[in-house]
Amino acid sequence: MIKIVAVGEMTEAARRIRASGRTIGFVPTMGFLHEGHLSLVRAAREASDAVVVSIFINPIQFGPAEDLRTYPRDLARDTALLDREGVEIVFCPEAAEMYPEGFRTFVRVESLEDKLCGQSRPGHFRGVCTVVLKLFEIVRPDAAFFGRKDAQQALILERMARDLNLGIRIDVRPIVREPDGLAMSSRNSYLTAEERRAALVLFRSLSLASGLVAAGERSPGPVLAGMRSLIAAEPLARIDYIEAVNPADLEPADRLRDGTLIALAVLIGRTRLIDNMSVELPKG
Ligand code: PAJ
Repeated sequence: MIKIVAVGEMTEAARRIRASGRTIGFVPTMGFLHEGHLSLVRAAREASDAVVVSIFINPIQFGPAEDLRTYPRDLARDTALLDREGVEIVFCPEAAEMYPEGFRTFVRVESLEDKLCGQSRPGHFRGVCTVVLKLFEIVRPDAAFFGRKDAQQALILERMARDLNLGIRIDVRPIVREPDGLAMSSRNSYLTAEERRAALVLFRSLSLASGLVAAGERSPGPVLAGMRSLIAAEPLARIDYIEAVNPADLEPADRLRDGTLIALAVLIGRTRLIDNMSVELPKG
């Protein structure tokens, strides 16, 4: 595996891979890798000849009061993990080269960016779309791999790829969870032991929701109310949002249908965690 820092060098290395007739699978990350990230790397390896992973803590997707400064990092461990997964190139650009003096071009996916997480993180998805489009232009992959853990991010990036005719296949993969159900996240490392226990309310509330759906409930109101009261009973948890939305436009769903997205964000102490599920109605 080779590690590349300079943008020009990455552009050139990717050009050489394409010139040799090999396809590129790309996995963008912010590092501090866990099994969720590695599942994407394995999917990329299966689908492509060469895998490129980026590790870049993108400053422009963090709000002024957010955790840019303290975001967990361990580049030595990350590169060792990626090396073992058969990754060809790890790309770790510097913020100063990605956003030089005078940078002023941004990508926005209107309306979708304002819903769900966009309400409490204004500007977040503009930062995500801008960096992902820049990375796509540098790497020019055939396919790019994202996790359903960040369901809104994946839907927005799918929309961006279609709207801008990027010609890059966006491949969205399932959520990888800890054995007790907590969705893996780099931010889980912020949790104290007590908060780690409390953080399970997110998964428990989604399990409650899927139980209600399995029992025949098709109206979002009672399902969301059940989730809300379960989380309200956890003293360390504070709800940011819980919503059931149509995946196409992220507008509130009037009924629970196959594919309806139930998504939530909850503060556990000072750590904001997200999780979601896609409704699956019983067959027949
Ligand atoms: P990051 O949080 O590092 O996540 C990188 C990718 O890993 C994303 O596609 C995310 O959805 C996926 N991922 C994270 N946890 C996962 C889990 N438990 N199961 C499955 N996939 C998981 O998301 C970002 O970085 C950034 O916004 C980025 C797209 C890199 C742009 O800066």
